[in-house]
Amino acid sequence: MEVILLGTAAGGGFPQWNCACALCARCHRGELPARSQESVAVSGNGSDWWLLNASPDIRTQLLATPALAPGPGPRDTPVRGVLLTDAEVDHALGLTVLRGGTGLTVHAAPPVRDALTADLPLRGLLDRYAPWQWRDSTVPGGFALAGGLSVTAHPVSAKPPKYAVGPDPDAPWVVAYRIEDAATGGALLYAPCLAAWPDGFDDLLSSASCALLDGTFFGADELGTAVRREDAGQPLMGHLPVAGPGGSLAALARHSGLRRIYTHLNNTNPLVDPASSEQAMLRKSGAEVLPDGSELLV
Ligand code: MLT
Ligand code: MN
Ligand code: ZN
Repeated sequence: MEVILLGTAAGGGFPQWNCACALCARCHRGELPARSQESVAVSGNGSDWWLLNASPDIRTQLLATPALAPGPGPRDTPVRGVLLTDAEVDHALGLTVLRGGTGLTVHAAPPVRDALTADLPLRGLLDRYAPWQWRDSTVPGGFALAGGLSVTAHPVSAKPPKYAVGPDPDAPWVVAYRIEDAATGGALLYAPCLAAWPDGFDDLLSSASCALLDGTFFGADELGTAVRREDAGQPLMGHLPVAGPGGSLAALARHSGLRRIYTHLNNTNPLVDPASSEQAMLRKSGAEVLPDGSELLV
């Protein structure tokens, strides 16, 4: 399966438009590579492509990616649809950019589909531009995607988006996807939003060949130290930190046979600096951070 990291930053991107923290300032000066908001493209056959989340930057990301160029007919596109891991603005708003695209299918968990019907009512809006298929991504047994991929969804957190009105605090708001290429047996585990290390997650990692994981925050006190002192001690907005005894990197050490890549990096995360000691430490542990546009074979 081909996997393209279209964007690798958390909501707001890097640099973030209203942030003058030390890292964003260095990015504005051209000293650090910019990152667009997190989104991925996958294909089992090189001609049918599926987007994993659709960020508000999707137009620029599509235009920068030759594999996703339109054609051969005047309105043909290799993009077949979108799999949403959650209903966050940075993962769903790109659907509005794709409006009018014919025959697209959106796979999402029921709370996500409902939030995009009522609280951020994109579904009705989009259907008035071109009818799309909306499918429950949590169907038992999973589902197949054109191009030879099979997918299962795994609830990983109950973190609702901020805009949700009266959200059910126990609903499976966030899922991870396990995407397998039937022809090669390669399997990608895609989990860009993890509030904690989920039950059963080690089993999922054991059956994958590559994992794309939530790298929003490097350290548990990051928002407090990087942005505003008064934020110190605030919970990290539903994202498990990378470092520290309870962080994801320590847990990933149990899976050394697996390619482990962090994505959805917040602008406060020192991993956005390729020369940082934090990135060196990550590489030493066998994990990676890659730039936008990186292509993988899984
Ligand atoms: C998140 O990942 O926690 C959200 O996307 C935050 C946001 O609204 O940008
Ligand atoms: Mn996000
Ligand atoms: Zn910043």
